[in-house]
Formats: sequence, structure tokens, C-alpha cells
Amino acid sequence: MKLPAGFAGRVVRWQRTHGRNTLPWQNTRDPYRVWLSEIMLQQTQVAAVLGYYSRFLERFPDVRALAAAPLDDVLGLWSGLGYYSRARNLHACAQQVVELHGGEFPRKAEVLQTLPGIGPSTAAAIASFCFGERVAIFDGNVKRVLSRVLAYGEDLSSSANERVLWDHARGLLPARELQENMPRYTQGLMDLGATLCTPRNPTCLLCPVQADCGAAAEGRPEAYPVKTKKLKRSAESLWLLHAQAEEGRVWLQKRPTPGVWAGLYCLPVFASREALDEVLPRKAKVREAEPFVHVLTHKDLHLHPVEAVLPAGWGGIEGAWFGAKEWPALGLPAPVRRILEAG
Ligand code: ADE
Ligand code: SF4
Repeated sequence: MKLPAGFAGRVVRWQRTHGRNTLPWQNTRDPYRVWLSEIMLQQTQVAAVLGYYSRFLERFPDVRALAAAPLDDVLGLWSGLGYYSRARNLHACAQQVVELHGGEFPRKAEVLQTLPGIGPSTAAAIASFCFGERVAIFDGNVKRVLSRVLAYGEDLSSSANERVLWDHARGLLPARELQENMPRYTQGLMDLGATLCTPRNPTCLLCPVQADCGAAAEGRPEAYPVKTKKLKRSAESLWLLHAQAEEGRVWLQKRPTPGVWAGLYCLPVFASREALDEVLPRKAKVREAEPFVHVLTHKDLHLHPVEAVLPAGWGGIEGAWFGAKEWPALGLPAPVRRILEAG
């Protein structure tokens, strides 16, 4: 495959004038700040991350503060961002940075990727942003942009083909002035994928690499990337006991690890309405609320909240009452928070 010469320079120049340059995790080379943003951005949009990012930095201004915090505090602050294994890994990673690396993030992607929650692409992002290392990120946006530029038509659901494309990606990296160019290039590819080279209707007319782009030359940018294997999705129905006592107290239990919502506080979960009814007092007042669907990565959860007003002395299942001032600060799955906030 012939790699377009001058590609990196065009991406770098375009990033300076047309890319995103005022996001709160930019204009810094502090690996703690960059790492935190990259983990939050792994499965979440920029707009949703902004508030969480500033709250995290306020509460945990550096890696030692985060490492020293109880996991429950971290999960509480993460509550609503989803994909909670990210928060558990974040905490474990901070502790390893302190215990194994003297509180300093390693400067090489190869070492960074040995830490919890940091895969090869995230490691490359941190190392290129903070230390100017010449390494290639390879997230969903980059796979799309580069498969189009190179008109790479092999099936990316095969990891062997992904490796081939990633090898080509290394061949396109800037070769000079890495301290200045690597952060810009890395950000530029992300920005191209987010703003111009979008999954549908890419804006090829404004694209700085249009002259290099195989897919645009073929007139069919949307034909790339090729990915045949569809994610296998499943569905599951769960009944959630929304037990309330006086003064707005609600019954919550901590979810087991591993599993859905591991380590978070949750309404008691049952596989059927019958199983839920069995833990209630005989004469309890019960009302089934409107069911709704909560979408996880591989699964649709059909959630059936069941409201019951119970005496404060009720118990007999795992968990405890939490007051109206207590539960909002807990790490709660987003759909459970939604049920509790609706009252
Ligand atoms: N997604 C992942 N990293 C990002 C960054 N640095 N800026 C914007 N979106 C991102
Ligand atoms: Fe994407 Fe179009 Fe630019 Fe090619 S020319 S990289 S398809 S936006």
C-alpha cells in the first residue's frame, strides 16, 4: 500500500486552525489530567464528560489524592457516567502509579499499557499528548478515518486485519519535531473523525486530506470501514424493588462483583415478579411502575420498578435503608438514580 506523503503535516496544520483547542484536558502535558480525560472519553461523548471531569479534578487534584480515596467515593463521583469498570480500574491504576512508579506516570506507551484500564490506544494517546512519543492511537474514529484514506477494504472485525491497518497508521505518523507535532497530530485525527470524517455523510469538501483520500477518490467514503460481524445483543428482564419507608428512605444493596453494576448501590434486583413478591410482607401495598428499557453494550435490560411502602423494621434481605440526604451521593447505576429521582 502506498502511504500518502505529507499526510501528517496536513493533519497537524488543519488541527491548529480548525481543530478543537480549548477542551479542558488540552493545553496541558500533565499525564494525570490527560489520563483522566482519556478514560472518561473512552465510551462517553465530550459534552457528557465535561462536568464529571471538573468535579473529579476538584475532588482529586492529583494521582495521590485519587489513590488514597475510598473506592466508594470514586464510584459515587462516577455515578451516571456508566461503564463502571472504568472507575474501578481508574482507582486501581492510580494506586499502581503511586505504589509501583513513585507517583509519576510512566512516559512510554509500552509501560503505560501495563496499568489497569489503559489499553494500547489509550496508552498511545497519553504518551503522544504528554511526552511527544511517536506512537499511533487506534480508536473507533481513527479506524474510520484511516480505513477511508487508505481505502482499506479488509474486514476490521478480524483482529489480524486491524493489526495490518494499525501498522499502516504507524507509517503515517509525523517524523520530525515530535514534541510539538505528536500531540497535534493525535488530536487532529480525533478531531477529523469527530467533525468531518463522520460515520454518515462525511464532509469531504472541507477535509484537509481529501487529496490523499482513497475513499473520496472512489466517491464512496461510507463504504469504509468494512465490518461484518454484528455485535450479538441479548435482552433480560429484571424487577427492581423500590422499597420506601418514612421520610423518603429507600432500601439499597451493594451489587456483587463481578456482574452488572458491580460495586454500585442498587435497588434489590429480582429475576421475576414472583421472586420479588416473596420478600415482601403479606399485606404490603405494592404498585408496579412503568417498565422501561436500559441499553447496555451487549444487552437490553427491561426494567420493571415495583414500588412498595414498608415499615422501617422491615428487613430480611441484604441491604439497608438510606435517607434522602444519603443516597444521592452514592454510586448508583443511572437507571436506578432515575427511578429514585422520580420518587
Ligand atoms: N476522545 C478521546 N480523547 C479525546 C480528546 N483528547 N479530545 C476530544 N475527544 C477525545
Ligand atoms: Fe474522511 Fe472524506 Fe476526509 Fe476522506 S476526504 S478522510 S472520507 S472526510
